[in-house]
Amino acid sequence: MTDETSPSKSHGRLTMRASLRPRDLMEDVVVRGAWVAQVITLLPEAFPGVLGASLTGRALGLGLWRLDTIDLRTFGLGKHRNVDDTPAGGGAGMVLRADVVDAALRAAGPGLPVVYLSPRGRRFDQAMARQWAAGPGVTLLCGRFEGVDQRVLDHHAVQEVSLGDFVLTGGELAAQAMLDATVRLLPGVLGNQASTEEESFSEGLLEHPHYTRPAEWQGRAIPAVLQSGNHAEIAKWRRAQAEAITAERRPDLWADFKG
Ligand SMILES: C[S@@+](CC[C@H](N)C(=O)[O-])C[C@H]1O[C@@H](n2cnc3c(N)ncnc32)[C@H](O)[C@@H]1O
Repeated sequence: MTDETSPSKSHGRLTMRASLRPRDLMEDVVVRGAWVAQVITLLPEAFPGVLGASLTGRALGLGLWRLDTIDLRTFGLGKHRNVDDTPAGGGAGMVLRADVVDAALRAAGPGLPVVYLSPRGRRFDQAMARQWAAGPGVTLLCGRFEGVDQRVLDHHAVQEVSLGDFVLTGGELAAQAMLDATVRLLPGVLGNQASTEEESFSEGLLEHPHYTRPAEWQGRAIPAVLQSGNHAEIAKWRRAQAEAITAERRPDLWADFKG
């Protein structure tokens, strides 16, 4: 069982135990074939968060994937387990120390790609979610304060990935968003596999609009074709809608699609 001083805490049916050696946990799961997310964070209590609910939570409970949090604080220095220090060269805020982050990355072990959540990184997208889902898992490093000492990122050749062009207080929400997008692509996580094949970005297009009962609401009717029962016509209509919406809202995606 976990205790307050253990750096690693696991979530999910296959991993109710946590150990001081997260690599061992990972190897257990690699043998069993479950996809692994390791999250290095100062806020382990923020996990699984929303990932513990609905389909991702059910999949976690079934052992279709596993989530290990590694508490950065346990690698802190001195009586107060300090993890940060003032920026070299001066300026506001604090920076996570290279030696502390290095210890956490070593505890995470090799075998999974290491990603630092960062507004400076490559923008996360559906293609990256697919790529992560196709691999054995990912180790995510959540920053806080001003970020992480550059030397430890260079030393471990850490890839930086951004959730978008805005600044969050820490990497935890970005980690949860990226894990949600990835885990739902794993086999068995969604009940209806077809739903990931038809949704936005899967073919480089945004998705067509959806409608459900009542047939008329506030004077607005469901498009007649959707009630025609003609599946070929419905598919044609949906495709045309997807193309029109993509061209109008996302000229960048539309140009790629046409290209
Ligand atoms: C306050 S931010 C640091 C921002 C940094 N000083 C800058 O200007 O680029 C603290 C942490 O939040 C996370 N973070 C903030 N915005 C993010 C984003 N758009 N995508 C992913 N992670 C983000 C990173 O882990 C970062 O180290």
